[in-house]
Amino acid sequence: AKTESGREGRAQPRSVRLSLTDRCDLACVYCRPNRSEGYLERRLDLEAWSTMAAGLVRAGVRRVRLTGGEPLLHRDVVEVVRRLGALSLDDLALTTNATRLTKLARPLKDAGLRRITISLDTLDPQRFARLTRGGELAPVLEGIEAACAAGFDEVKLNAVVLRGENDDELPALVHYAWERRIVPRFLEVMLIGEGAKMRDRVVPAAEMRARLADLLVDEPPEREHDRGPARYVRARHDPRRKVGFISGTTDTYCKGCDRLRVSSDGVLRPCLATNDGVAAEQAARAGDVVGIDALLQEAWTMKPDGETFRGCTEESAASVSIRAIGG
Ligand code: 5AD
Repeated sequence: AKTESGREGRAQPRSVRLSLTDRCDLACVYCRPNRSEGYLERRLDLEAWSTMAAGLVRAGVRRVRLTGGEPLLHRDVVEVVRRLGALSLDDLALTTNATRLTKLARPLKDAGLRRITISLDTLDPQRFARLTRGGELAPVLEGIEAACAAGFDEVKLNAVVLRGENDDELPALVHYAWERRIVPRFLEVMLIGEGAKMRDRVVPAAEMRARLADLLVDEPPEREHDRGPARYVRARHDPRRKVGFISGTTDTYCKGCDRLRVSSDGVLRPCLATNDGVAAEQAARAGDVVGIDALLQEAWTMKPDGETFRGCTEESAASVSIRAIGG
């Protein structure tokens, strides 16, 4: 029972996000309830991730992003990148909070990582400590400089915007990013997981854009081919610069979604907004590449039809852990 056009005729599973670990050294208020909540007990090791990746590629996946939790907390992250780099993917990227990037930026680049996205919501140390529940800003800023120096194809910055918290910092974050040839992106806080408590903190992307009107051309934001749900607007005075907006709350971006997620315990998850999934841990640990391919096909048939994200009940959305499934 799919939509009229039928899922088969539409998107294929071309893009996956692998959550290497659900552990994180920060506890952002919209992501984790506190610093001491429990973690998933089982985590795939290097060999299991290699099998997982090979199976996904066999099933048609062309683009991989490593996430978490915080992926740089996986002790084999550089080696995972190296193995993935050998699969001739169209894209290999990673999202990080940058707390450990100073040392790891160059090794990751050398191992074959092409693009990197850094989560940074504020340039103010006190705010950073509050938003992350005790995190330190200085190592993050240092990590960002290391990423800029490492020579990635692209460095992006993700800022989740919260009303009354960091919504006065949009121009400052844009200038900070542009000065470093980083692409700044602003995210509406999504009302899932911990974010489900933040309805009154949502700043709609249209309002964010209005706050940046002086800096941006007056044209509607546009998606980039094969580049996920973000919509971009160009800078007024420099066509090479742009700002991205991700409206996970005032809009849904499910149409044509070709994305799948794998949580750190090896569950293939067809959608960010539900806990449904297919367990692939055993196949991954057994080195069963063909089995992973088959399980991915199964997970893909469970993908919601594009209405579900908006329609999913608040209860079910609140029970999802973004931390576990990788944002
Ligand atoms: N809403 C929007 N973005 C979120 N992230 C985590 N939780 C939320 C939420 N509730 C983002 C992080 C990071 C990415 C991996 O997911 O800020 O940039």
